[in-house]
Amino acid sequence: MKMITVTSKEEAGKIALELLEEKLASGAKTLGLATGSTPLPFYQAIKDSSMDFSQITSINLDEYVGLSADDPQSYAYFMQKELFAAKPFKASFLPNGLAADLTAECHRYNDLLQRYPIDFQILGIGRNGHIGFNEPGTSFDSQTHLVDLAPSTIEANSRFFEEVSQVPKQALSMGIASIMAAKRIVLMAFGQDKADALAAMVKGPITEDLPASILQKHEDLIIIADQAAASKL
Ligand code: GLP
Repeated sequence: MKMITVTSKEEAGKIALELLEEKLASGAKTLGLATGSTPLPFYQAIKDSSMDFSQITSINLDEYVGLSADDPQSYAYFMQKELFAAKPFKASFLPNGLAADLTAECHRYNDLLQRYPIDFQILGIGRNGHIGFNEPGTSFDSQTHLVDLAPSTIEANSRFFEEVSQVPKQALSMGIASIMAAKRIVLMAFGQDKADALAAMVKGPITEDLPASILQKHEDLIIIADQAAASKL
């Protein structure tokens, strides 16, 4: 595990981009992407660069159940707005939160992950230590699955909605084993709100009670944190 402390989100975005460039130079073909506010400086750095992604595939971590790709609160919409409109990829995949058969949709996604192994995964961390939408208690062996969101996650994510009742209660998420299979993982964390989760992830026991703690075992994990997020390390 490598830790990089930064003084601004912009700096973090640029460093994450350099770490990606390194992998692309050695033949990376598939990026694992994330939503939330954390990856935005990384997406900005990508958009500010002259890099071409037309031969690269992207696979997102998760999607809310019940929202269509043209719903402004969906992660598909978020990705289109924040990245894909400016930087089109060869192909971009997200779970389909509107699938009639959610179990079949999880299988489809697992097959995609087999076909496109992730070379570089960008990650944020939830305040309760979740990664993707893998809430505390999720098995470390999990593949893509249907998740009942924790009340604290619904509350935290309600800032993107008009009111908390509009936040979907379920999501489809890549599992923890799927995330761990990524060859390089870059986890970014900003702000005091993330300090407890980051400290527990780095220094605490490896436990399913704190999903991100499994990342201690990853062979190529780089954490990029600002001083506030790193303050309890
Ligand atoms: C959501 C996403 C996670 C993300 C987390 C933190 O729950 N599913 O992938 O890491 O929020 O969000 P933020 O980056 O906005 O703090």
